[in-house]
Amino acid sequence: MVKKSSKLWSGRFTQETDKLVEEFSASISFDKVLYKYDIEGSIAHAQMLAKVRIISDADTQAIIKGLKDIQQEIEAGSFKFDPALEDIHMHIEHRLIEKIGEVGKKLHTARSRNDQIALDIRLYLRDTIQEIERGTTALQNTLLHMAEDYIDCVMPGYTHLQRAQPVLFSHQLLAYFDMLERDRQRYLDGLKRVDIMPLGSGALAGTSLPIDRQYVAELLNFSAVSTNSIDSVSDRDFVIEFVAHSAILMMHLSRFCEELVLWSSAEFNFITIADAFCTGSSLMPHKKNPDIPELIRGKTGRVYGSLMALLTVMKALPLSYNKDLQEDKEPLFDTANTIKKSLKVLNRFLENVRPNREVMAAASQDEFMLATELVDYLVGKNVPFRTAHAAVGKLVNFCLENKKTLRELSLEEYKAFAQEFGSDLFQRLSVEKAIESKKAYGGTAKENILRRVQALRAQKSGREE
Ligand code: ARG
Repeated sequence: MVKKSSKLWSGRFTQETDKLVEEFSASISFDKVLYKYDIEGSIAHAQMLAKVRIISDADTQAIIKGLKDIQQEIEAGSFKFDPALEDIHMHIEHRLIEKIGEVGKKLHTARSRNDQIALDIRLYLRDTIQEIERGTTALQNTLLHMAEDYIDCVMPGYTHLQRAQPVLFSHQLLAYFDMLERDRQRYLDGLKRVDIMPLGSGALAGTSLPIDRQYVAELLNFSAVSTNSIDSVSDRDFVIEFVAHSAILMMHLSRFCEELVLWSSAEFNFITIADAFCTGSSLMPHKKNPDIPELIRGKTGRVYGSLMALLTVMKALPLSYNKDLQEDKEPLFDTANTIKKSLKVLNRFLENVRPNREVMAAASQDEFMLATELVDYLVGKNVPFRTAHAAVGKLVNFCLENKKTLRELSLEEYKAFAQEFGSDLFQRLSVEKAIESKKAYGGTAKENILRRVQALRAQKSGREE
């Protein structure tokens, strides 16, 4: 238990902190995950203090050794956490003083917890964003593999969840690849604004001591030093951006998961999920449930919630630091963990999904999905698009009323709707032809997909070099 007198800020206080206050204001239960970054930042800070001769080299060496020992204690599980010490910064500093004595009291020179926490979160996010970038790339690779493996697999493409036009299954998969690529780019772009070193801003005003902020930035591998001390300790835009980018990523995952859930239902039966990646029902013995995509879809909610929480914490907050800012951490950490886990689980899940080619192919045979081909056919015979569209619309209606498919109509019947129809129209009534004809850049023709897969493979090997 920490005695009142040993609280690091206890100087001007005459009473012990109320237990309830202590418990309510402590952040250690969640900010302890920042320990590595806190120590890394403190080591750089101590090195800088020695460089500018604020403290001696010997003091810095003692401080660095103490900090490294503390890191080991934390990693070995022998470090004692105590809510009376509020947060990770005070825990480490308190323990340092306990271990190395008076010299430890020099570490916090020219620093405040306000610039310290800003630094810690930036270091944490730099790692986290890179890890998520790798997770996103891994999921993209799986999609790319699947697109290659199932390059000939056709499926109905949907609008309004109604069968619209046949597409290649790989084209649908690569749609998710492109969505994930935008997510990757957004994260990497956000990283530019994370990569700014705030330490040296002090509590808010900067410091009168002759520090070298550029040196700290170099030691910690930051590209830039923050320019305004007040903004440096108040800014959480980069956290909001990260969570906003995560919300968009989760929205993408939820759309994919929704399709996986639908496709695994008896109604669609487009995919079969390996037993190891499903769960059963405690009541209905026949059930095999797609819990994984359902859970990821569900977890989208907490990430959106975190985004709202952060925006609300920041709304109308006066400059500069306010304790409200401590409320940034749980939404941030929860988001990072949710994203990391969801990407990993979905990736494994996909490796355990088998597309049912025959079922998808049979569903693609729905002839009315070829109605648009007949419109294109007439356009090819110089019929204005709107006229062609109306004629085929009437033709479809005729089929429905007479319970006939497009292939069952005679050429004479076709001609009743548009004189331009010739016997070659029947060649257009094929799923394969329909897909093959979508050659315009970005369309579902197999040659397009193959070219796209090749280009992505080349990009990927470029990225790995
Ligand atoms: N635990 C605090 C936070 O997360 C660290 C900064 C505390 N600063 C202060 N002036 N009380 O924001």
